Amino acid sequence: MTGVDITALVPRYFSALTDIPVAVEQPTGLVTDRYARPLHDLRISVTDRCNFRCVYCMPKEVFGKDFAFMDRDELLSFEEITRLARISVAHGVEKIRLTGGEPLLRKGLEELVAMLAALRTPDGREVDIALTTNGSVLALKAQALKDAGLRRVTVSLDSLDDATFKAMNDVKFPVAKVLHGLDVAHSVGLGPIKINMVLKRGQNDQDIVAMARHFKDTPYILRFIEFMDVGSSNGWEMGAVVPSSEVVARINAELPLEEVSPNYSGETSRRWRYRDGGGEIGVISSVTQSFCHSCSRARVSTDGKLFTCLFATEGHDLRALMRGGCTDEQLSTVMAQIWRERTDRYSELRSSQTGGLRASGKKRIEMSYIGG
Ligand code: GTP
Ligand code: 5AD
Ligand code: SF4
Ligand code: SF4
Repeated sequence: MTGVDITALVPRYFSALTDIPVAVEQPTGLVTDRYARPLHDLRISVTDRCNFRCVYCMPKEVFGKDFAFMDRDELLSFEEITRLARISVAHGVEKIRLTGGEPLLRKGLEELVAMLAALRTPDGREVDIALTTNGSVLALKAQALKDAGLRRVTVSLDSLDDATFKAMNDVKFPVAKVLHGLDVAHSVGLGPIKINMVLKRGQNDQDIVAMARHFKDTPYILRFIEFMDVGSSNGWEMGAVVPSSEVVARINAELPLEEVSPNYSGETSRRWRYRDGGGEIGVISSVTQSFCHSCSRARVSTDGKLFTCLFATEGHDLRALMRGGCTDEQLSTVMAQIWRERTDRYSELRSSQTGGLRASGKKRIEMSYIGG
């Protein structure tokens, strides 16, 4: 480490980051932010496109025919993604999640998975590589992804009722195809498979117990997610949020539950298991019970911006640095410095002033651009 402070060269949420630091430092396998949260988890969005138009994520009115998605040369290449991932792993990242949009729409994704699967932590361990998908083409891709080194998938599924599901994905995509994708993913060994159900009151909350029953006594772990005010286009309002406490109470009334301790520090989900031994469910309560205090997640957008919070308004342009010819050491130094300066705790702040933060004026990034 040298004595030169590069903070001044790396302004927060500055989208045109072109200054390359002169003084560099070596990664130590641990970098912590202002609240002592380590960088542990990297989420990479590989495309901003999706074949669904989920009402809570890519509403048709905004993401219609005229919406300008990114051009190919704007996307990070697989080499660029792997370079960022390798440096992140040197800083302590042990888990990489590929997201989108719908990540399986990115051509040749299994090649990227293979490149990432070859990475090793500073003490020689493999990195946990996971993927979040809507399941629409999972049946076709599951084997190739598994062969490439993908460990597990998380599949979004908001209802088992065809009419409800079709209304929520808004492209009339049938439930049966997603269930088939799940079966194939399970049979090739992409587990443990988690299922994400985003709840919107009045839209799919009547299906909570039916979903729980369906996935009870199966290898799948169902997680109920509170509808978040992420992005600027999903028309979020507090009235549409189904609090996790209500979810647990509704299931518990019919299928008795007990709480289980987290698998790891920083887990998004709180775990509950069926008292009769029928497996577990999770609830993700980013609105009613935020988990910022242990948030160790960094996100890289499709075009290579580093975001230190899902609710950020701008990211740090790592693509500009890479395409500007910076060295690995320089990139590594910039990434460490960004993380060290991190103070994000949006959900925690929002809990104390519901509604108030939305009014701040700046346009927030969309989930489809930065990934769930
Ligand atoms: P595991 O690695 O299996 O533990 O998954 P995970 O729970 O970390 O990841 P997943 O992508 O399945 O997250 C589920 C959902 O939780 C996301 O789709 C978001 O709705 C929400 N979520 C995940 N990370 C964050 C976060 O950092 N902040 C907030 N507010 N919500 C998050
Ligand atoms: N609120 C909560 N979760 C969301 N996702 C997308 N938009 C939202 C939102 N507004 C998450 C879901 C989905 C994943 C791809 O992104 O968990 O499964
Ligand atoms: Fe697509 Fe997933 Fe967003 Fe739905 S939640 S629109 S499947 S990226
Ligand atoms: Fe992390 Fe930001 Fe989500 Fe809080 S709101 S858990 S800081 S991503």
